[in-house]
Amino acid sequence: MNPSVVDRYKNQKVAESYDSQRFESFIGRYANSLEIKEIRRLIAIAGRSEPLNLILDLPCGTGRITEFLLNAGIKVVGVDIAEEMLEQARNKLGKYLKNGQLVLELGDARSLKYEDNCFDCVTSVRFFHHFDYQDKLDILKELSRITKRHIILNFAYTSPLYAVLNGTKNLIKRIKGEPIQKKFSAEQEIQSLIKNCGLREKKRRFTFPLLSANVVLLLEKP
Ligand SMILES: C[S@@+](CC[C@H](N)C(=O)[O-])C[C@H]1O[C@@H](n2cnc3c(N)ncnc32)[C@H](O)[C@@H]1O
Repeated sequence: MNPSVVDRYKNQKVAESYDSQRFESFIGRYANSLEIKEIRRLIAIAGRSEPLNLILDLPCGTGRITEFLLNAGIKVVGVDIAEEMLEQARNKLGKYLKNGQLVLELGDARSLKYEDNCFDCVTSVRFFHHFDYQDKLDILKELSRITKRHIILNFAYTSPLYAVLNGTKNLIKRIKGEPIQKKFSAEQEIQSLIKNCGLREKKRRFTFPLLSANVVLLLEKP
């Protein structure tokens, strides 16, 4: 059985190979650039309403999205439950730790130590597709509590159209003997989560429409 996402990355080998396995190939680099492009777009939209001086990146993992935010001149707190992943981020982003633009902390998204409304925005990428509805709801409530206004949240989307794409990808994985880890969110689930957390959807972007189920939402407190 595969370990749950909470434990899967608490492993030196998994953490060390995280970036190279996903983002070093041509397709990996391209997927990464598309994801960053959409996050940049949503950051720009959020930044038009109010300045984004301090962002929580959760989970920060090896610091992939954190690095993009830092390069944009934003102060970042990166939080992850796996010390092994934080270690990779520390190695990669040492200069920002030294100059005080970055803080990296161990933490659990389900219960965060931060005060209400203390971040200008929260980014959460490649995370929600690991959880069932109740966990998603608990985590989104926590993110909503600590952000002043905006949350940039990434889902694995499904709809009748995307079900064909997702089903095909899962079939290929099954044939290759790879684990199927994604829990796709249908429109109804996304709307229910947003409503139950008292949020509003401000913008939605697909990173690669019709080819990837990867969707990024800009949510805000009304
Ligand atoms: C697929 S990685 C995504 C990392 C990063 N956001 C990215 O896009 O590259 C998922 C991360 O979630 C972290 N994680 C799992 N459960 C968590 C929890 N309850 N609280 C905080 N981080 C958690 C894992 O340790 C892992 O680093």
